[in-house]
Amino acid sequence: MADKSATLTYDNKTIELPVLEGSVGPEVIDIRKLYGQTGAFTYDPGYKSTGSCESALTYIDGDEGILLHRGYPIGQLAEQSNFMEVSYLLLNGELPSKTELDDFSYTISRHTMLHEQLSTFYRGFRRDAHPMAIMCGVVGALSAFYHDSTDISDPEQRKIASHRLIAKMPTIAAMAYKYSVGQPFLYPDNSLSYTGNFLRMTFGVPAEQYEVVPAVEKAMDRIFILHADHEQNASTSTVRLAGSSGANPFACIAAGIACLWGPAHGSANEAALNMLREIGTPDKIPHYIERAKDKNDPFRLMGFGHRVYKNYDPRATVMQKTVREVFDALKVNDPLFETALRLEEMALSDDYFKEKKLFPNVDFYSGVILSAIGFPTTMFTALFALARTVGWVAQWNEMISDPGQVIGRPRQLYTGPTARDYVPVEKR
Ligand code: CMC
Repeated sequence: MADKSATLTYDNKTIELPVLEGSVGPEVIDIRKLYGQTGAFTYDPGYKSTGSCESALTYIDGDEGILLHRGYPIGQLAEQSNFMEVSYLLLNGELPSKTELDDFSYTISRHTMLHEQLSTFYRGFRRDAHPMAIMCGVVGALSAFYHDSTDISDPEQRKIASHRLIAKMPTIAAMAYKYSVGQPFLYPDNSLSYTGNFLRMTFGVPAEQYEVVPAVEKAMDRIFILHADHEQNASTSTVRLAGSSGANPFACIAAGIACLWGPAHGSANEAALNMLREIGTPDKIPHYIERAKDKNDPFRLMGFGHRVYKNYDPRATVMQKTVREVFDALKVNDPLFETALRLEEMALSDDYFKEKKLFPNVDFYSGVILSAIGFPTTMFTALFALARTVGWVAQWNEMISDPGQVIGRPRQLYTGPTARDYVPVEKR
């Protein structure tokens, strides 16, 4: 029983609502019994004031620009850890010992191949299909291939499904790319790291030996870490909602991929680079800033603003630094990076952006790096999906393991017609 409570007076009735306290962050007013006690619902369409679940995975303090995974700051993880270790941390709650990490990495590497018949699935798509369309389809189709890991009541099957999803996602994404450029699919090479293997499957060709560039591998791995999880965002909430009905994990992750595809969410990285290309040179920036401020113009600065961060997105800080590392390693110097830096500087000194607390988010600089590495813009969101899979899977497991878990079923404020009699068509 909570020590603190909130008092609500409604319809001449006063009720006490328990106040719950997490380990850190805002307190939460527990309204689960509200409808039973008052007959009223709450109304919060974008969930701006609603906590949908209890979670011990990721914590964000949007005002301070803090992001913690299992308590560890994202900056420390991005600088000192690697994607396999962060995946283990998210799934298991603690950093692994050396043996645990080796075992986990080995297990993941044993699941990197796809059922051979899945490659014929790809051939059903048009060559110009968006990789996210292929990802939605192929990941959903995994449910038809791995029946031995779809019983969600069995923790062992849940674990195997989780490992399969994390391991196969690079193969699925790389194949989506290969299909779009008309090159043969490459099988995984498990002697490489998770990220090195993905780079080889994407950019290698059978006719040549592919050398993984260590600086690119490191940068890519860091980008995966930065995207691994982000609390109850739209796609994660979609995965949880799909999973709450008891749907199998592959179907749930396919639902998450579909939600991530939107430009307000995962596709913002693609949109941000397209926007920078459209702006082109720094002298055009003021025009686009004016457009972003104009309420009659739908244009927004892509890669700017966030529902939770009202301060610099800590992932964007790491991302900006990574741009320089990748440029140095590949000896490239894309002038769009200069444009991005100038745009950030000008937006952050503009009253509109200051007042609304709009700062660069993770997607603002990621496109510049991914493009330098050689990915076409259409692959950007597929890379986000690849990395976010571990977060989705960890959140899904956390939900299924919770004994209090029930199907997610919001209510509504109905504004349609009240009951009326049907009129036959000849009398209308
Ligand atoms: N450019 C110009 N104005 C903006 C922007 C922007 N990028 N973002 C928000 N605003 C304004 C918006 O017009 C609104 O103004 P007003 O109060 O006068 O109506 C105010 O700021 C609040 O915006 P909102 O849309 O109500 O805020 P939200 O929390 O619902 O939306 C957001 C958050 C991320 C969808 C939004 O900031 C946005 O569309 N940003 C561009 C897309 C983007 O970069 N998305 C990636 C998010 S981070 C990665 C991820 O999570 O997937």
